[in-house]
Amino acid sequence: MPAVAYVNGRYGPIASAGVSVEDRGFQFADSLYEVVAFLNGRFLDWDKHLWRLRRGLAALFIEGAPGDAALLQIARRLVAMSRHTDGLLYIQVSRGAAKRDHGFPAGIAPTLVLTARRFDFAQRLPQLEKGVSAISLPDQRWARCDLKTTGLLPAVLAKQEAKAAGAFEALFVKEGEVTEGGSTNMYMVDGDGRIVTHPVSARILPGIARDTLLDLARAAQMEVVERPFTLEEARAAPELFLTSTTAPILPIVALDGAPVGEGRPGPVSRRLGEMVWHEVRSQTGWRG
Ligand SMILES: Cc1ncc(COP(=O)(O)O)c(C=O)c1O
Repeated sequence: MPAVAYVNGRYGPIASAGVSVEDRGFQFADSLYEVVAFLNGRFLDWDKHLWRLRRGLAALFIEGAPGDAALLQIARRLVAMSRHTDGLLYIQVSRGAAKRDHGFPAGIAPTLVLTARRFDFAQRLPQLEKGVSAISLPDQRWARCDLKTTGLLPAVLAKQEAKAAGAFEALFVKEGEVTEGGSTNMYMVDGDGRIVTHPVSARILPGIARDTLLDLARAAQMEVVERPFTLEEARAAPELFLTSTTAPILPIVALDGAPVGEGRPGPVSRRLGEMVWHEVRSQTGWRG
């Protein structure tokens, strides 16, 4: 089966899955999502993703989504149906479907959609060796970037611009400071070898891969500084890198067409790369 979906109780091929045209996720982006990696058939950081989803649902006053155990059961069944061992589980919860009206409709149940697709995590290993490029763009998103809503248009436009420029990622800049990437968290290594990244705030998504990376770095006595850094600092930094569920860590070796540091992955990114992939392998038993 190529890709499978679950929609409010029904499992089946993705091509025949659908939601109402009046779904509030569709009309208002009144919905939240998560992307969870599975490798060797096992979810990576499942509890952290669930925590972030619950936090978002509470912030948006979306009530009535299935509990944690039910969600895990659905997710496991869908992944088993997909017959893939390595892939991405997408979870979306919208406020539900109702006649179009901005205020919350009374008495509707949320729409729950999950999909499972294959994803090739092994492609990240040569990219880790080689590094990727990024371009800087103004951060034109709303004031609650900590909520993982499906209102992704600014990220869609920015990532398309990056793609058209042949870059892997768009690096967002707000008031001169680097917030994060279009779909990644951003880091620089400063002249003293410290890992610098924007603190958790309404300006960034609290990334799950970010959380894991910072825990690993601190456990290895590497110095972490959570503060905003400027685009000028990023341009002068010896190393830049990004993290996300689909790219657990990738060094950025070119920014806006200019080399970062020596134009190849530096020692801090390389060391973190080993640590992050060791963690992925030990959590899931992945052998890729
Ligand atoms: C804006 C943004 N920042 C950061 C991330 C990385 O988050 P995570 O590590 O949970 O995948 C994402 C992931 O999609 C994102 O969209």
